[in-house]
Amino acid sequence: MHAPVTVREFETVARDRLHPAHYDYFAGGAGDEITVRANEAAFARLALLPRVLRGAGRPRTETTLLGSRVATPVLVAPTAFHRLADPEGEKATARAAAAAGTIMIVSMAATVAVGDVAAAAPGATLWFQLYIQPDMAFTEAIVRRAEAAGCTALVVTVDSPARGRHDRDVRNGFDDLPEGMRCENLRDDDRVSDGDGDGDGDGGAGPVRSIVMSPEISWEHVDLLRRMTSLPIVLKGVTHPADARLAVEHGVSAVYVSNHGGRQLDTVPAAVELLPEIVAAVGGAVPVLVDGGIRRGTDVVKALALGASAVAVGRPVIWGLAADGERGVSRVLGLLRDEVEHALTLCGVASVHDLEPGLVRRC
Ligand SMILES: Cc1cc2nc3c(=O)[nH]c(=O)nc-3n(C[C@H](O)[C@H](O)[C@H](O)COP(=O)(O)O)c2cc1C
Repeated sequence: MHAPVTVREFETVARDRLHPAHYDYFAGGAGDEITVRANEAAFARLALLPRVLRGAGRPRTETTLLGSRVATPVLVAPTAFHRLADPEGEKATARAAAAAGTIMIVSMAATVAVGDVAAAAPGATLWFQLYIQPDMAFTEAIVRRAEAAGCTALVVTVDSPARGRHDRDVRNGFDDLPEGMRCENLRDDDRVSDGDGDGDGDGGAGPVRSIVMSPEISWEHVDLLRRMTSLPIVLKGVTHPADARLAVEHGVSAVYVSNHGGRQLDTVPAAVELLPEIVAAVGGAVPVLVDGGIRRGTDVVKALALGASAVAVGRPVIWGLAADGERGVSRVLGLLRDEVEHALTLCGVASVHDLEPGLVRRC
């Protein structure tokens, strides 16, 4: 095959390179994967209605999010197990994100410890994704590690009171990481270094815990977390407008609309369909982020026009990583940036800040 020129072609290359069970783990979702398909399909049902003769010039894509400059508002969504896709794993992803001038949200289920990800990508802006653990002392230990690594926000995922059921994984018998790979952020000690004492950042041999997804977690835990850290909190996995309002009341710094890429509750609507209602509920109090199904620059432009301050991409980054490591992720992020610029130009828009809902029509 020729070198991939679209995000979807990167998926084809990645599929060829990955172990079939690992491809299924990355590509799949919950239940009948109705939400997985809906996320992408919803973008196809939205049309762009360009303006002409605006003399807008070359569009500007840079913006600021929670105090960090980004070259293009396309963030790396938190996804687990990058070392299944490339031996360098999250280190490669972080370097590519830094080179693209964007933010990487490091998953709590990363296969490289967050401190080691930061060390491998100097200058990267990293946010840390957290599942609040019922053992708040353990939650605090993880938060301290993220702070020590220099992460500048906590992305708290709240759509997971239980693990999503992924039939593909059951069918493939995929229920554990291969030998030599584990969730390094789940180390059961309070050491901030890589844990093996040799300073090489390769992780220690100490035990790791499993992530607990608990239905006991509530707004009280979000309040506790706010008191525990001065890092801004981004609430990820909000789909109901009432929860978006509660999030603002509880003092979060951003609301992140997401159905987890269709991997938690199946039949939740497409993320971009939920966006306008959430934006209205938040009423400009804090920025709104969105992910799910973004595969083209035009998808990014639609989401921004509907009121998102930024978007994030999950699987596209995995496809880049599996296809060609750090270079592949750079290519995917570069493709999306070029497509965003091109779409803005064709829309007659001068800057990502000038996008407005009138540019988008339902068809
Ligand atoms: C393989 C995979 C692993 C994921 N792991 C996490 C995770 O550890 N934490 C989290 O908050 N979201 C996780 N997500 C959800 C993503 O952050 C994001 O919401 C989703 O991938 C967006 O949809 P997209 O893949 O269509 O871009 C994961 C998604 C995938 C595909």
